[in-house]
Amino acid sequence: MSDKFSTTGLTYDDVLIRPQHSDVIPADVDVRTFLTKRIPVNLPVLSSPMDTVTEGRMAIALAQEGGLGVIHKNLSIESQTEEVDKVKRSANGIIVDPLTLPPTASVATARETMEQHKVSGLPITENSRLVGILTRRDLRFLERTNIPIAEVMTKDNLVTATGAVTLAEAEKILMAKKVEKLLLVDEDYRLTGLITIKDIDMMRRFPLAAKDRQGRLRVGAAVGVLDYERAESLIEKDVDFLVVDSAHGHSVNVIETVKRIKQQWDIDVVAGNVATREGASDLVAAGADTVKVGIGPGSICTTRVISGIGVPQVTAIHEVAQAVEGTQVKIIADGGIRYSGDITKALAAGAHGVMIGGLFAGLDESPGDRVLFQGRTYKVYRGMGSLGAMVHGSSERYRQGGHETGTGKTAGGKFVPEGVEGRVPYKGSLSAFLYQLVGGLRAGMGYCGTRTIDQLRTDSQFIQVSPASVRESHPHDIVITQESPNYTVEHSTGE
Ligand code: XMP
Repeated sequence: MSDKFSTTGLTYDDVLIRPQHSDVIPADVDVRTFLTKRIPVNLPVLSSPMDTVTEGRMAIALAQEGGLGVIHKNLSIESQTEEVDKVKRSANGIIVDPLTLPPTASVATARETMEQHKVSGLPITENSRLVGILTRRDLRFLERTNIPIAEVMTKDNLVTATGAVTLAEAEKILMAKKVEKLLLVDEDYRLTGLITIKDIDMMRRFPLAAKDRQGRLRVGAAVGVLDYERAESLIEKDVDFLVVDSAHGHSVNVIETVKRIKQQWDIDVVAGNVATREGASDLVAAGADTVKVGIGPGSICTTRVISGIGVPQVTAIHEVAQAVEGTQVKIIADGGIRYSGDITKALAAGAHGVMIGGLFAGLDESPGDRVLFQGRTYKVYRGMGSLGAMVHGSSERYRQGGHETGTGKTAGGKFVPEGVEGRVPYKGSLSAFLYQLVGGLRAGMGYCGTRTIDQLRTDSQFIQVSPASVRESHPHDIVITQESPNYTVEHSTGE
């Protein structure tokens, strides 16, 4: 019994990072990181696979800014795959497999396709050879929709290019010809790609965007245990990485799932959640590229209170960092981020990136509408282990249904929730909010004198603090009358 208690567990509010001699200012720090061995990003931030946080819109916005979204799995396989596809098609350097239609298809079909995929034009091909292009302009004044595309498409003087075309060259051609789409063809006039002015503009607007080799935005998606059909469907649509998403990653089915996926496909796998050295080591042994850390720190989580299980988050990150030291495996700190300073602390404890749910749920880009309550605007945020979310399919994450029992419920027939449902303040657009979050991290790295995230991970030191110190850290002895963009009344400890 003597070793029954492990060391004290610490979480974000229990620690501060010691300031150190610095020759680096916040603007000069480098916040790039790797979220898996093969996926570099310009910002160390992911959004949670939760049904009130990440669908296509959030994933697009976050990838544009330099982070990564993970599409949740409280959706049918088809719908989740569609959300991934939306992201992959949203912004491209060069679209290598543009949507096309044959000239015999009807105008009605063309309209439907353009609407469904949110594209403003379609190359028209016959036996993969380019025969025309159909744009919104061609359709604008048309009343009849049962005529074939061939009758209305533009077929003469198509603006094409052959061979390797850089985006800068493409832009010149588009400007000279005053059109918005450059059709790429081979010597036999077979369509090989498409470059649009919208995509060129996007690249300018979002220089930090997380992009794959073809210039498309990157996106991840969650899969459950033994959920291979879902994995296959997502991989077919070029998802960049899969997240084997479970409340207890240190379990036989998660380990089995990671192994199978890694054996069957060439895809990066993030696996979790764990909070111990042993849990991390077993996932790494199974082939996980990245380990996700967090048992119960989330703002909506009740796992720790209802089950008595968990490890305070900073200690958990530190343990896992020790377990993967010397390997190429990356760590994501998932849950419990309340302020930008928590991101600095998570990375200083050993994480390569953080996953955020609650702080993003109130943004424009999260699913769901705004709600007004007592004069302030909110959005709904709920745990994937809340009753409402479990009924929609996420019970499997909590080992209550799906593959675990095959019944959709635990043996007793009722769900045992591990999360709550509520509202979070509405916060406007992701871009402005993220700027403040990353600004806080940059400030922290400046105080530490650490120029890179790797230096922050290895060179920083923590001080354990008292409750009195937490009070001292927050604004005190003042009634806040003017909230700042990175500190609101909701943030304060209320003391
Ligand atoms: P934050 O603190 O960012 O946490 O809101 C988001 C993370 O919390 C996890 N999660 C849950 N954990 N019960 C839990 O115990 C739940 O109902 C629940 N829903 C989400 C998840 O890891 C997420 O990324």
